[in-house]
Amino acid sequence: MMGFTVAIDGPAAAGKGTVSRAVARHFGFAHLDTGLLYRAVGAKVLEGMTPEEAAETLQAADLENEDLRSNAVAEAASRAAAIPAVRAALVDFQRSFAMRAGGAVLDGRDIGTVICPDAQVKLFITATPEVRAARRHAELRAKGEDVTLGQVLADVEARDARDSSRAEAPLKPAPDAEEMDTSTMDIDAAVARAIALITLRREA
Ligand code: DC
Repeated sequence: MMGFTVAIDGPAAAGKGTVSRAVARHFGFAHLDTGLLYRAVGAKVLEGMTPEEAAETLQAADLENEDLRSNAVAEAASRAAAIPAVRAALVDFQRSFAMRAGGAVLDGRDIGTVICPDAQVKLFITATPEVRAARRHAELRAKGEDVTLGQVLADVEARDARDSSRAEAPLKPAPDAEEMDTSTMDIDAAVARAIALITLRREA
């Protein structure tokens, strides 16, 4: 059976993860949060490894690390993600995941532009920086991280600026991506819209 790939890109905390998980559940697709790969690299860099070595030696067990969702790891991930050798080391794994039989949804920054330019469905999910920072702040606080909303907003904006301005695979919508602004949409509406779009393309 041919693979069916859904590429979901967008800036930090725009709702990509929630939409991806819901879509994967609805269609029975496998889901890969590619940010987690970069976060695992970032975590190993914080432990003293070089970014290149961390990416080249990445193992499935590195993705189980409890601390991958912290702000410090996100920042280290975004820095490591600007290094071409780091990105190159992660390409094959992502592409073979995308091609698995039964369908796959991958979320990240460069899935529709670089990793899976032939994906059957491409979504670019955004929200205003303020809305995204408020969501991420609530998540971090729920996990007991002691950060202010202002700090989270500054971090999210710095990370987006770095992710969008890097030379290699910058964050940007693919020309054929469907853009969805979730600041004006609740999560159920975003999920319903994504499911409707994928259903159309599957039947095409
Ligand atoms: O999606 P996230 O916030 O967990 O991603 C963490 C960082 O990893 C993000 O700031 C940039 C990088 N990243 C990337 O460069 N390319 C991807 N496909 C996914 C994440």
